[in-house]
Amino acid sequence: MPVTKAVIPAAGFGTRFLPATKSLPKEMLPVVDTPTIQHVVEECVQSGITDILIVIGRGKRAIEEHFSSSSELEIRLEEKGQTGLLNQIRRISTMASIHFAWQKEQNGLGDAVSCGQTFVGSDPFALLLGDTILRSNNPEKPILRQMLDVFEEKQESVVALEEVEPHRVSRYGIAGGENLDGNVIKLNQLIEKPAAEEAPSRLAIAGRYVFRPEIFHYIAETPRGKNNEIQLTDAMVLMLQNHGMYGLRFAGKRYDIGNKLDFIKTNIELGLQREDIGQDLADYLKRIVTET
Ligand code: UTP
Repeated sequence: MPVTKAVIPAAGFGTRFLPATKSLPKEMLPVVDTPTIQHVVEECVQSGITDILIVIGRGKRAIEEHFSSSSELEIRLEEKGQTGLLNQIRRISTMASIHFAWQKEQNGLGDAVSCGQTFVGSDPFALLLGDTILRSNNPEKPILRQMLDVFEEKQESVVALEEVEPHRVSRYGIAGGENLDGNVIKLNQLIEKPAAEEAPSRLAIAGRYVFRPEIFHYIAETPRGKNNEIQLTDAMVLMLQNHGMYGLRFAGKRYDIGNKLDFIKTNIELGLQREDIGQDLADYLKRIVTET
């Protein structure tokens, strides 16, 4: 049975991006002209996912509006003959079946995932962070699709792994394990934000997961951890004691827009790749760099 469901948590406070995120969901911050979470939904759709649950909370209604249809806007674009834009806008609300769940209190990522339990039922599902874009080096195959391929072969949970510089391991969940064929690793260790000398590797969990439904049982068993929140990595550590788990060291790049510097870098990098503005942006950057 192929995996057809995805959960996208997008209910966090986004404190690293205040004051912008006081009333604006960080997942709606645009990369060039497209909200980050739309990039995430598109990765799902291109990977064969048909049903998506977005977990939202207070101050996050703009996400719901973005994915619902907007007949007044569509009529206006139609009248003006802006067919290209009209089709783009229509696609946002029709590309997948999108549902919403409410996280009552921001009790951490593990808690946000558990809000998807009724939607997921007893099926395996994909989990994608709503503030993280992953770009695959293979434009035909998004990272999530590559992870689903590993899941379909192994029938065990899979996480995306990215090698990070040594001084950055203490910011991420880090995985250790045994290298198998290709870029697949059989995991035997997971540590949330280890000190550099304690880290089993430099492979950081990169905001994409495919889970067997048993993860909900382990989240329910997980006590509050760092920041008094239910940490997803803690639940995965429990799950790893009884289940196999694999990592995919992906060929591509992660863009985490949840902090200011990476948000700006993402806009520059993905802006440079755009046909409409890439060249002008490159010229501008060269000019200001030589001037300063
Ligand atoms: P982050 O830890 O990056 O988000 O979670 P945050 O808590 O909003 O960020 P800061 O540290 O305050 O700046 C990654 C994803 O998980 C969601 C976030 O919205 C983000 O997309 N999340 C996090 C939830 O849905 N609920 C939570 O309780 C925490």
